[in-house]
Amino acid sequence: MEHQLFVREVPELYRAAAKWIRGAINTAIDRGSCSIALSGGATPLPVYALFAQPPLKDQIDWLKVHVYFADERAVPPLDADSNYRAVHESLLAHVPIPSGQIHRMEAEREDIEAAALEYEHLLPKPLDVLVLGLGADGHTASIFPDSDALLATGPHVMPVVGPKPPPRRLTITPPVIETARQIVVIATGKEKARAVARALEGPGALELPIQLASRGAWFLDPDAAALLRKG
Ligand code: 6PG
Repeated sequence: MEHQLFVREVPELYRAAAKWIRGAINTAIDRGSCSIALSGGATPLPVYALFAQPPLKDQIDWLKVHVYFADERAVPPLDADSNYRAVHESLLAHVPIPSGQIHRMEAEREDIEAAALEYEHLLPKPLDVLVLGLGADGHTASIFPDSDALLATGPHVMPVVGPKPPPRRLTITPPVIETARQIVVIATGKEKARAVARALEGPGALELPIQLASRGAWFLDPDAAALLRKG
């Protein structure tokens, strides 16, 4: 499936991505409810923050939204490195999603294998909406190049040790990305341009995890889009 591409300067990029996500959430809610998995990292936080205030805050029936995570670092939920903490502060603390509908990955647990298995059982198959970022090395969620997680076809959630600190993490695996109904990728900065071009215009062989999201809606700033031929 062909991707959709939106290249905008920040902060217009954030508004465009947020409106697209609102549409995807409401399409799912029209069918009954919406399961959305969010990524961490810094890039999507200003997009999440737009949902914490009007008008977007009032354009979603939050009681019908179920929140999941694409990955989590093995740190407690209040740690500065916790994706849950970042998403909570930017979005979850400000909208009336019932707490039982917010499913954080408990990657700090000693038995991280058990945490992965339990999360796998929680995760809806398929997810309605999946929000992804990417690293300069082409990782997405915490699926890093050359990691076992990139080859996983069975487990939907896996513990990994990655090169990006903090190293120990839980991550969704390729089948979760492949089956998600709607994928949105948000990336800014010239250091990500090479991975973006490889995912959208490069050879098809799967090398970089972010290629798994190549059919998504891509929101890029001009720096991240700089190496695309088609623009
Ligand atoms: C994480 C992420 C990861 C992130 C990218 C981009 O927990 O680290 O989910 O996949 O999306 O590394 O991170 P930045 O947005 O901070 O560049």
